[in-house]
Amino acid sequence: MHGMRNPFLIGEKVYLRPLERDDAPTLLPWVNDPDVIATLMMYTPKNLQSELEFIERAYKSDTEIILGIVLKGSDKLIGTTGLHGIDWKNRHCEFGILIGDKTEWDKGYGAEATRLMVHYAFEILGMHRIWLRVYEYNQRAIRAYEKAGFVREGVLREDRYHNGRFFDTIVMGLLRSQWEAHRAP
Ligand SMILES: CC(C)(COP(=O)(O)OP(=O)(O)OC[C@H]1O[C@@H](n2cnc3c(N)ncnc32)[C@H](O)[C@@H]1OP(=O)(O)O)[C@@H](O)C(=O)NCCC(=O)NCCS
Repeated sequence: MHGMRNPFLIGEKVYLRPLERDDAPTLLPWVNDPDVIATLMMYTPKNLQSELEFIERAYKSDTEIILGIVLKGSDKLIGTTGLHGIDWKNRHCEFGILIGDKTEWDKGYGAEATRLMVHYAFEILGMHRIWLRVYEYNQRAIRAYEKAGFVREGVLREDRYHNGRFFDTIVMGLLRSQWEAHRAP
């Protein structure tokens, strides 16, 4: 096993670590890959500077926490995950995740990274609720979120324009109380 580089949250198969400027070239092909961004809010072309700014902005913000997703076995960076719009008064935030290396989809890494972030949000940050938006055609993500305990809360009808037509956006959420019950043996 490789030595972990600056680990922040450690799971079984993946760990999460802060992104560095020298990660920008790894992130770049992901955010221009049509298969990856088809299920994200992102749609404009990105260059190296966009990614450097994303990384720099992330670590200056009081309302956002961004981490890289790294495979423990190989120390390979495969994606990023974040808590966005952290509302310290009402104690909720929006979860986001992107595994940019498509060869690593469907191996359980997304659900594990989600669980690590959820644990951090509830136990360390004191959040009460975590919510997310997912497009109706992203069944892989919906399944990964369900595995981490999220439940469907509502639907934003025809909120998403993609490939020439409109799709629903699903809102999912996880309450701290529900998560405590979900993780109990
Ligand atoms: C969404 C994403 C984070 C999920 O991570 P992942 O590591 O691929 O997901 P996991 O392996 O943990 O879980 C995926 C589950 O969906 C299942 N799945 C895959 N394709 C599916 C489909 N078309 N329909 C239903 N389930 C599907 C998998 O079998 C797996 O379930 P299982 O473990 O019960 O077999 C990742 O694929 C990704 O980053 N995709 C591109 C960006 C994106 O969509 N981000 C989320 C935006 S809301």
